[in-house]
Amino acid sequence: MIVNDDKLLDVAWQAASAAGQLIRESWQKPKSIEYKGAIDLVTSVDRASERLIVATIQSHFPDHSILAEEEAIVRGSDEECRWIVDPLDGTTNFAHGYPQFCISIAFENRGIVIMGLVYDPVRQECFKAVRAGGATLNDAPIHTSSVDRVDKALLGTGFPYDRRDFADVYLGYFKGFMTRSQGVRRGGSAALDLCYVGSGRFDGFWEMKLKPWDVAAGALIVIEAGGVLSDFSGNAFSIYGQETLASNRLIHREMVGIVSAVASETRVD
Ligand code: IPD
Ligand code: CA
Ligand code: CA
Repeated sequence: MIVNDDKLLDVAWQAASAAGQLIRESWQKPKSIEYKGAIDLVTSVDRASERLIVATIQSHFPDHSILAEEEAIVRGSDEECRWIVDPLDGTTNFAHGYPQFCISIAFENRGIVIMGLVYDPVRQECFKAVRAGGATLNDAPIHTSSVDRVDKALLGTGFPYDRRDFADVYLGYFKGFMTRSQGVRRGGSAALDLCYVGSGRFDGFWEMKLKPWDVAAGALIVIEAGGVLSDFSGNAFSIYGQETLASNRLIHREMVGIVSAVASETRVD
């Protein structure tokens, strides 16, 4: 089924703005927190945000499939059309009242992401992209930075929830980039990190073991803003893969080289 890009963006924005209001009203209040793992949290707001987003999508596209982080795996009759949703990316920040979190909504047609929207409800920044249509921040076009060397770059990263078991591996990459760049930031929301590469606030980003809902929208925003993504070896990026390396394109090869230097120094598989 062919779906119009404007309609996709429209529905994604309806869902994100409603969920954003809910998140904005609750981020400074006490929260009810459950644990999915030792340090992997979920709040009642994550779940309420997801229900709102799923209901909005279904009211417009009852046939579409949906993959959302917390509860919803909807197998619609139209399997070619699938929404990929993180109802609150940056839950640990949200739970602590640290204002760096967002909603991420992407639309995949026959396995290709063709629309992505990421909304930061505190700053009220909405990043959007459609395939071959460019990327925007609050409707103004955005572009990746022109920094062409890692030693002049500001980079973003994050650490997966199994970091207590694999601390040395993740810190090896961190040290590799921290000692070679102008700085590394660990914001706590991978979807926003990718948007920051797209908007030139970061020059590059790396993280392991992200999930499709963390990266689907942000990856399209990076590409449409002029950037590039790959795995850690420089091979094709997949939102279903284990490695995310994103950059403004100009420092990509150098970042891949640093990752491989670190991997050979520390014998990371
Ligand atoms: C997490 C955030 C964080 C990243 C983790 C993700 P969540 O998503 O994106 O920045 O480091 O790997 O799982 O759990 O807050 O939706
Ligand atoms: Ca997430
Ligand atoms: Ca989440």
